[in-house]
Amino acid sequence: MSEKAFVPVAKLEEVPPGGKKVVEVNGIGVILVNAKDRIFAVRNLCSHAYETLECGRVRAGWISCPVHGARFDLETGKPLNPPATMPIETYEVRVEGDTIAVAV
Ligand code: FES
Repeated sequence: MSEKAFVPVAKLEEVPPGGKKVVEVNGIGVILVNAKDRIFAVRNLCSHAYETLECGRVRAGWISCPVHGARFDLETGKPLNPPATMPIETYEVRVEGDTIAVAV
């Protein structure tokens, strides 16, 4: 197996501090989030009832699901409160110059 390739998905200026942007990588919906002075990338899919997370609130390192309110750690994807019990998928991010790349 070869290493996962980093795919350029957005410019840094498109995801300002506190902001987020939905992109598609290899057919998978990914949310880029600028929080805690870095960029996180998580799958745009809640692990509870498989709703999208893009309208969720972002605070101190987590994103919340707009449907039933589960919160997920942006770094690990782990659920922080019910009803979700499974993690969401997270992806490695690389910022090169002004370009955000994600390995999905
Ligand atoms: S679909 Fe996200 S918490 Fe239920």
